[in-house]
Amino acid sequence: MTIYFNAFDMLVPVHQSPGLWRHPESRVEEFDTLHYWTELSQTVERAGFSCLFLADIPGVYDVYGGTAEAAARGGVQYPLLDPQVIVPALAAATTHLGFGLTASVTYEAPYALARRFATLDHLTGGRIAWNIVTSYQDSAARNLGLTEQIPHDERYDRADEYLEVMYKLFEHSIDDGAVLADKSTGVFVDPERVHPIVHQGRWFTVPGEMLTHPGPQRTPLLFQAGSSARGQQFAVDHGEAIFVISSSPERLARQVTDTRAALLQAQRDPESVKFFAMATIIVAETEALAQARLEEYRQYVDTASALTLFGGWTGVDLSDLDEEDVIADVQTEANQSALAMFTRDPSKRWTVRDVAEFVSIGGRGPLIVGDPRQVVDELVRFKKISGVDGFNISAAVRPADFERFEEFVTPELRRRGLLPESPDHPVTLRESLLQEGPHLRPDHPARRLARPAP
Ligand SMILES: Cc1cc2nc3c(=O)[nH]c(=O)nc-3n(C[C@H](O)[C@H](O)[C@H](O)COP(=O)(O)O)c2cc1C
Repeated sequence: MTIYFNAFDMLVPVHQSPGLWRHPESRVEEFDTLHYWTELSQTVERAGFSCLFLADIPGVYDVYGGTAEAAARGGVQYPLLDPQVIVPALAAATTHLGFGLTASVTYEAPYALARRFATLDHLTGGRIAWNIVTSYQDSAARNLGLTEQIPHDERYDRADEYLEVMYKLFEHSIDDGAVLADKSTGVFVDPERVHPIVHQGRWFTVPGEMLTHPGPQRTPLLFQAGSSARGQQFAVDHGEAIFVISSSPERLARQVTDTRAALLQAQRDPESVKFFAMATIIVAETEALAQARLEEYRQYVDTASALTLFGGWTGVDLSDLDEEDVIADVQTEANQSALAMFTRDPSKRWTVRDVAEFVSIGGRGPLIVGDPRQVVDELVRFKKISGVDGFNISAAVRPADFERFEEFVTPELRRRGLLPESPDHPVTLRESLLQEGPHLRPDHPARRLARPAP
């Protein structure tokens, strides 16, 4: 058995554990420096991670209390640096670590984003993945040219066409071998092998050809994390790796099984798509020390910040409720599954206090606490029940929890033969993470798109 790991992070003071930036081991004052992220990339590469996965959002969290004050005060995914800018420097400091970049399809023209991804794929030797998101914040909509968000399901309809444009640009606009760089004939690019994509659709018009020649992977490895019914359909139509989130491996098993069945229906090999579950690990030499560490972390929990994060995800402001109030289900245009996880839980009625405590360490994912053997046992159990291929590991205290993973968890994983082999030669991320060739599989929908007529 092999378990794949991605480091799940964000260019912010603290990602999924609001308040924990105040922990003495958090090197938060360096989070906006390049050396902090190059060191962290090297740590997770040594620890056996396949990819540093960088989350991103295009706006501030301003739902809690109706303003952005709580997000600013608590450093709740704020301030936020741009992950696309930093990646070439991180690639230069590592040899085979992949970089998952979150980029929204709702606020930028596909033509511009395609060029940037192709550029990054070149500069990293094909180590780029794209986490395709449609975004869920009103604050982003307001600041990026809309008056309000595009309705939830329509965002995905529009995203389908966005992806069609991207596939035409990545896969069908410039042929293999088009770049000749032939000094004797003076031909740099063979114009016969460059094709305008002539795209005219409901939302996008792109008549011309791709601006950048294809990178080593052509299309970056495609990650997706939609969990609503419409979001899951989008994952089936596009994803090569799918992020899932739940503290219950049994509930995840249903989602993984249903999605694999839907992949089969869509004539895609269901086993070719990898599933990753989010998890946060607190590990120490002994169980008692790990539990003591958790108790210590709890001193730094900040519940107002946790509710700010919850409000940002769900669009629901809990600031007027009492701690004992049970949270209710409402329809929003935000992240519907983040809300449903609490409001439609058959095992429990969640109060405001429960939500704040749960979200405070490790966001919405499970928290695994123990000695190295216990942690690996739990990862194996979770994987077996849920059917996921690996984990997106979030650090509650950064970089300490990634360093501790390398110190305690990696040796135990290696001892049991559970970590993938680290490549000893340059490979693309699609090769190292999916065990595929560098390009999209022939059964991926992008490959079935017709080449534009000449
Ligand atoms: C592990 C994980 C990571 C995610 N990272 C991001 C992110 O960085 N940026 C973002 O806008 N959305 C992110 N999302 C949200 C998803 O893109 C998606 O909106 C969400 O899961 C809700 O699904 P839905 O859009 O189908 O309702 C993430 C979701 C999960 C489960």
